Amino acid sequence: MQTFLDAIRAALARATGLAEADVKLEAPRDPSLGDVAFPCFQAARSLKQAPAALAAELSSALARDLPEIRAAAAGPYLNFTIERGALAREVLGLVAEQGARYGGSQQGAGKTIVIDFSSPNIAKPMHVGHLRSTILGAALARLFTALGYRVVGINHVGDWGSQFGGLVVALRRWRSEVDLERDPVRGLLELYQRSKQAVDADPTFAAEARAAWQELESGREGEVRATWRWATEASLRGFERTYARLGIRHELVRGESFYEPFLEGAIQRCQEAGIAEVSEGALVVQLGAADKGLAETPCLLRQSDGTTLYATRDLAALFHRYEEFRFERALYVVGAEQKLHFRQLKAVLKRLGLPWEARVEHVDFGLLLGRDRKKLASRKGEVLVLDDLLDEVVEAALAIIREKNAGLAHPESVAEAVGIGAIVFNDLKRERIKDVLFDREEILSFEGETGPYLQYTHARLASIERKAREAGEGGAEPDWSRLADAGPVLTRLGRYPDVVRAAAEHAEPSLLATALLALGRDLNAWYVQARVLGQEPAVTAARLALVRASKTVIGNGLRLLGCAAPDEM
Ligand code: ARG
Repeated sequence: MQTFLDAIRAALARATGLAEADVKLEAPRDPSLGDVAFPCFQAARSLKQAPAALAAELSSALARDLPEIRAAAAGPYLNFTIERGALAREVLGLVAEQGARYGGSQQGAGKTIVIDFSSPNIAKPMHVGHLRSTILGAALARLFTALGYRVVGINHVGDWGSQFGGLVVALRRWRSEVDLERDPVRGLLELYQRSKQAVDADPTFAAEARAAWQELESGREGEVRATWRWATEASLRGFERTYARLGIRHELVRGESFYEPFLEGAIQRCQEAGIAEVSEGALVVQLGAADKGLAETPCLLRQSDGTTLYATRDLAALFHRYEEFRFERALYVVGAEQKLHFRQLKAVLKRLGLPWEARVEHVDFGLLLGRDRKKLASRKGEVLVLDDLLDEVVEAALAIIREKNAGLAHPESVAEAVGIGAIVFNDLKRERIKDVLFDREEILSFEGETGPYLQYTHARLASIERKAREAGEGGAEPDWSRLADAGPVLTRLGRYPDVVRAAAEHAEPSLLATALLALGRDLNAWYVQARVLGQEPAVTAARLALVRASKTVIGNGLRLLGCAAPDEM
């Protein structure tokens, strides 16, 4: 596809005198008009011609220049259609050659993207709210990696704050009363909740908790720090299990506590720049000068009692990350409820006059809701724990798979792939800022706009390939002209690398998810009327090449999103 687009751009540049980089091609409003369109307005202005007249003139002038491409004027637009046989030869050839690499590039070579994602809190289970950050962030990490960037995924675990004083005291007192062996995350949650109540109800406990927090903040090694560290590590081990199921890993696990030693430096930097001021005993940065909407909500660096805050730690983390990585972009994949927080951070950077402020982006997203648009709860109505949700959907997937394909060799592993694929795809298929509705039945449907639908399409393509191999078909020289009826599939396959690029650029994996759904739809429409096996050898070979390339692209796309693509299901 790219070869043709380059040829079109070069021919247009020659014919209009525009620089190639200024030849802006776009998708035609109606895909039946062509594969790409050139709006003639800008060129017409510089040539002092009417756009429609220029379009008409160009359409005949370009005919000689572009042998396998038809150019047709439609008002001020010039629409190009690549001859189907030529398109098939190019696109399918490229997909076959690049295989698992197709869609990727080296555009990011030498550049670093920092992605802060998942970032659950210690002593609390990862809940569905963290699920979206985890799924979105991991998809973005894979997208940027495919484009050649160095990706540094950071788990900014919530492991710091006065509440950990309470947790340490709870462990001191009640450790033996909960089962911290089998399920440390749940055991810790119980103690954490108990400590919260005790801090409110019992002044002795509260004083002990305060002392423990002071001890922690002092940085001294001893019983308190050891207990806190033990709890942190136990929680992290629990999170790791969930990450492993989702196929996710962070390059760095750096909790908020990691930035403790850098807080004073960060505060000092603000003071030296003259933007920190004391207000009602607290140290703040006024933000109105950088962002009018924040005139009433300064960024708090230090409270009057001397404690630092979430924002102080994030600010220190930002400085630290920029020093270490000189990132091209720093993405914070965090729910929309923290919009104000990230806007404040950026405003502080602006007030410091840091030119890299624009590289810091809050990649925000909507909620994950149950079918009734209420907060998602477990079957028993409690807070939903992520692992339980995964178990539940995988179990339902297993039942469906057993029913559809009783002879399948490894139903459990396929069910894990399908169940997790269903959750992940559901989370990524709409613009991230929208709320996601979670309907256990709908996300598992093999026919809807779902992960399992695409996985099933992929498995069907794999089965055609298998059958062709068994029948010894597909080895002939393909007659590409016989793919004239597959235009929509071919253009989707050809545009796939652009989709990957756009999804990364806009930090919007839904662009990829919806493109895959559209490919699946067009492919299934083609497939119902085109037999692959048992045709004239040149036809079978061409159609099989389309099947193979579609399987490659759907598989590559699913894996980028974080869904497995089994060959059988
Ligand atoms: N631990 C926080 C929470 O659960 C999210 C942290 C996001 N990352 C950050 N750098 N602030 O709400």
